[in-house]
Amino acid sequence: MTTHIGAQKGEIAETVLMPGDPYRAKWAAETFLKDAKLVNEVRGMLGFTGTWNGHRVTIQGSGMGMPSLSIYANELISTYGAKTLIRIGSCGGMQPHVGIRDVIIAMTATTITSPSSGIFREMNFAPCADWSLLQAAVTAAQEMGTNTHVGGIYSSDVFYAERPDLDEQMVRHGVLGVEMEAAELYILAARHKCRALAVLTVSDHLQTGEALPASEREQSFGDMVEIALKAAFPDA
Ligand code: HPA
Repeated sequence: MTTHIGAQKGEIAETVLMPGDPYRAKWAAETFLKDAKLVNEVRGMLGFTGTWNGHRVTIQGSGMGMPSLSIYANELISTYGAKTLIRIGSCGGMQPHVGIRDVIIAMTATTITSPSSGIFREMNFAPCADWSLLQAAVTAAQEMGTNTHVGGIYSSDVFYAERPDLDEQMVRHGVLGVEMEAAELYILAARHKCRALAVLTVSDHLQTGEALPASEREQSFGDMVEIALKAAFPDA
């Protein structure tokens, strides 16, 4: 047990999928995993462990924002021995060619600040995805025929942004979408020699104002979960 995760040692798999929303963790576990068992409910941040095509997988909610994700990812890595951590979540589209329902596989994640900023000080560290996961995710997405974009994303500290100029700079520099967690996950993975990736579904669009209707969310999020599982276990 850790401060924020009630699972016993051994109840968490080496491969962990991390949606922001604990109820999405429940849905994904019930939909994709065999014999899914609830292993954490501290603070309602649900986590489940089961198997996918014979491989053990944990799906653990991360909460919203980098400070929350940092707590769960640190404890998963340091206490439970997680080695592969894949964020599955939603993001806002930032480019005209990125449509809602599309999937973004995040090669890099730009930030202004993250919980690790204090370590890096004047350094602009470049948080990047694990290549083997990225490559396998792209292959899976292509095989599934999912409309997918691969490139940089922006991990923001705020959902309700008061600095439109920051979004403008991201758009100008080709950033595909905005979310709030991936950069810190990539930084922690680098620090602890783990593998990390973020596979995101575009749920809303900053330029068009379009948003995914609630009724359509499950199917779109399903592709993202399948891509993440296939990235973790490309030979399964
Ligand atoms: N901003 C930040 N995070 C998000 C967004 C957004 O527009 N959409 C989904 N996650």
